[in-house]
Amino acid sequence: MTTPFTTTQTGTPVASDAHSLTVGADGATVLHDRYLVEKLAQFNRERIPERIVHAKGGGAFGEWEITGDVSRYTRAAAFQPGAQGEVALRFSSVAGEMGSPDTWRDVRGFALRFYTTEGNLDIVGNNTPVFFIRDAIKFPDFIHSQKRLPWSGLRDADMQWDFWTLSPESAHQVTYLMGDRGLPASWRELNGYGSHTYLWTNAEGEKFWVKYHFISRQGVKFLSNDEAARIAGEDADYYRRDLYEAIERGDHPTWDIKVQVMPYEDAKTYRYNPFDLTKVWPHADYPLIHFGHFTLNRNPRNHFAEIEQIALSPANQVPGTDISPDKMLMARVFAYPDAQRYRVGTNYQSVPVNQPHAAPVHNYSQDGSQRHHFTDVGMPNYAPNSFGGPVADPARGHDGAWASDGELVRTAATLHSEDGDFVQPGILYREVYDDGAKARLLETLTGQGRSITIDDIRERFFQYWTNVDEELGAKLRAAVAA
Ligand code: HEM
Repeated sequence: MTTPFTTTQTGTPVASDAHSLTVGADGATVLHDRYLVEKLAQFNRERIPERIVHAKGGGAFGEWEITGDVSRYTRAAAFQPGAQGEVALRFSSVAGEMGSPDTWRDVRGFALRFYTTEGNLDIVGNNTPVFFIRDAIKFPDFIHSQKRLPWSGLRDADMQWDFWTLSPESAHQVTYLMGDRGLPASWRELNGYGSHTYLWTNAEGEKFWVKYHFISRQGVKFLSNDEAARIAGEDADYYRRDLYEAIERGDHPTWDIKVQVMPYEDAKTYRYNPFDLTKVWPHADYPLIHFGHFTLNRNPRNHFAEIEQIALSPANQVPGTDISPDKMLMARVFAYPDAQRYRVGTNYQSVPVNQPHAAPVHNYSQDGSQRHHFTDVGMPNYAPNSFGGPVADPARGHDGAWASDGELVRTAATLHSEDGDFVQPGILYREVYDDGAKARLLETLTGQGRSITIDDIRERFFQYWTNVDEELGAKLRAAVAA
């Protein structure tokens, strides 16, 4: 193989990789050394803003395959029996910055893209089935409380627990976060959840509410607080390295694709509000239906191009899948494309990793910064037109629809019969956590309680956990005092 020669960005061969152009060997560097100036200027612009949340992450690519039959619930081509194609998956932690240690306790992002024949379908979820809040208007406040104090730039237990204890709807997710799921053993050994309720529509137009579950065939494993702290110091990129190395050695992780399906009419009377993101649907009510799997078998060829620039969004739905009236989800479909226009740029969808890989793009948008994708000469740039431009097809396109009526109000969602904020966290603690998990939760919460410095917040912290489970609250009060 012949070694290529160095050129400027415009292809002109350059004379040196090592020496700037100077007036004599020890003299001044001249500004007209165009290659030096170009090299430094390009370097200064290598970074784009990191994601406002989920900044630290990693990901990979692979294939999905549908092995079951859910065609009576959705007409999405991606989910028909035998369907297969390419997937992308980005894992992340939520609060830490781009360089933060992978093993700090946090919820983990699980953002999956199916490159389908009807366009990209993204399920942007986490390794927990619920979330901290149920109304998007609180999201910036919630995230501020988990990041850094504006004056000192330090993370702060007081503000984290101040927010959580003043927001009782957080209790279910915080019970997950402070439990084993907050410290996964690796990205390969965690489950992913769409978390929200989504809408599926079948070929006859019948509608169903669904929740996605992606169950790891590697099992769900976790680290202890001590292991996680040690690893955070030794290898900040522990999860990223683990995934990369596993794929390189041919140990390809696989997740089963499952779904819970609720008949459309059940939503009105179900014992939990199905559009409340702080609630799960017990499997006894709506069992998991296993209908496929996906495997990650290709590492990114370039982390920045394919992982940093990937723009995953719950707004990316396909005919047969759509969002539900979950207030969080409705706001997310605005928030992600908005963030990505800022973070990656106006034409972020034409970056190769964001283009549909299995579907064509035809529309009338044009221009904007960095545009390099354009229609053929003679194609009109307006609709309607009489020159053969693309025409929307109501039979192919599909907007998921649900019934909605009422005054404009700013109020909480309707309460269903068992909708208390502490009902499901109590069940999680008492009935799902075994004795070991309970003991580890207590140990973690004891450390948290001791790091709170303001008496009033510490008192609310004890009350919050007493509301989850009275015995846990009492044990915690004693342990923090000991
Ligand atoms: C990333 C906003 C709730 C999971 C992001 C980003 C924004 C955002 C702006 C960065 C997007 C980018 O720059 O590419 C919000 C808002 C929420 C919300 C406003 C509430 C209203 C959630 C929930 C989940 C979630 C409920 C999980 C169920 C994620 C994940 C990422 C992310 C996994 C990283 C995606 C990736 O890997 O690129 N969020 N989010 N978010 N969010 Fe949310």
